[in-house]
Amino acid sequence: MSRKIFKNVIVIGQGYVGLPLSVNAAKSGYKVYGFDISNEKVEQLKKGHTDSPEIKKSDLLRMQKKGIIEFTSTIPKLNKQSIYVIAVPTPLDSNRKPDLSMLINACELVASVIEDNSLVVNESTSYIGTLRNLIKPTIDKLSSAKNIIYAVAPERIDPGNIKWDMKNTTRVIAGLDGIAGQVTVSFYSKFCNQIHIVSKPEVAEAAKLFENTFRQVNIALVNELSNIADSIGFSTHETIRAASTKPFGFMPFFPSIGVGGHCIPVDPSYLAFSAEAVGVEAKFINLANLTNSSMPKIIAERIKIFLDGNLSSKRIQIAGITYKPNISDIRESPALDLIHELKLLGASVSWYDPFVMKYNDQQSTELNSDIDLGLIVTPHDQIDFSIWKKTGVKVLDLSANSTNYGWTKFL
Ligand SMILES: NC(=O)c1ccc[n+]([C@@H]2O[C@H](COP(=O)([O-])OP(=O)(O)OC[C@H]3O[C@@H](n4cnc5c(N)ncnc54)[C@H](O)[C@@H]3O)[C@@H](O)[C@H]2O)c1
Repeated sequence: MSRKIFKNVIVIGQGYVGLPLSVNAAKSGYKVYGFDISNEKVEQLKKGHTDSPEIKKSDLLRMQKKGIIEFTSTIPKLNKQSIYVIAVPTPLDSNRKPDLSMLINACELVASVIEDNSLVVNESTSYIGTLRNLIKPTIDKLSSAKNIIYAVAPERIDPGNIKWDMKNTTRVIAGLDGIAGQVTVSFYSKFCNQIHIVSKPEVAEAAKLFENTFRQVNIALVNELSNIADSIGFSTHETIRAASTKPFGFMPFFPSIGVGGHCIPVDPSYLAFSAEAVGVEAKFINLANLTNSSMPKIIAERIKIFLDGNLSSKRIQIAGITYKPNISDIRESPALDLIHELKLLGASVSWYDPFVMKYNDQQSTELNSDIDLGLIVTPHDQIDFSIWKKTGVKVLDLSANSTNYGWTKFL
């Protein structure tokens, strides 16, 4: 049987990365099995519920009814060659080193069902060499299937971004051999406008890590500038806007309370891990991690000075605690660290987030004016700030790129 004709796609992991892929592949004519180890997630998807802002409930229900997509918490055994796409989390462990337990588990599950001539594509972000040295050996060792081919196609999705989506964001692809590269390109070109093929998987893996490291380092640099600007007494935002008038050689980044989500605070540590494995010290990455992760403490101290040097029993309310606007993801959100730091300094902290009902036993509380200070951290579009505007409470805007509400841009 030719390995070039694939009709079935099994996507392992139905989160921010896996679900949009399942939907796009199903719309492109594949029969898709959206497999997730979480029974609860699968039950939600069957009802059309998802956290991915770009996926419509009506689409999910319609596609399931048509039978082009099926959600399941048991990895399907199809008895025919298929495409397996791995899209599971790759976090850091408590020592901030790669935790690939979910990726390894995904490989073991794939190995238990995969048939001859199938294609395995990894979309999960991981260290350089993961496809060649971990995914392929794990699956090949546990499966008796022959001629399995392997490729990487790192995902670049930015959940909630309405300008850049899976279709118009170029996809970088590499196969472990020529045929794997070809069939992977043929699959992705059904729903991605532009494909960029690179010579080997290590280049694609490194490019993914480097993109996010570039952001991590530049955000750290501008956060450092904001610390300098605060001590001297000028506006970082105004400075960046002025520097941005240079038409070449400059790209603006804006200060914030730190970095969050499953990518920017995590991926650079995967690159540092690759560096350390070959005896290279990733100095910039380590410094950027430290600079960004120090920001919540620094900001809490600055807020204390702003409130006359004393936060004891001061009532502070935070607007938005997810790591970026208009999504519900709180993974690695620096807002959570800021809450912790403010509480350590004695403040009484409440927060409002329409996407998060409860965190750490604390409930979201509607914005109110019975406070000493409001902090805009993650300005979701649906937050109505009129109560703060009407009552004239003190507000600081800490967000990186919000529209200007007319309040003090603090950073
Ligand atoms: N979220 C982003 O913006 C983004 C962007 C680009 C790349 N990535 C990368 O994509 C990967 C997935 O991230 P995500 O944000 O989609 O994660 P996510 O947490 O949103 O979703 C992952 C899903 O995988 C499921 N899962 C875990 N282990 C499994 C297993 N063994 N078998 C089947 N399902 C399993 C989880 O239940 C979860 O629903 C990560 O490597 C991440 O770094 C994420």
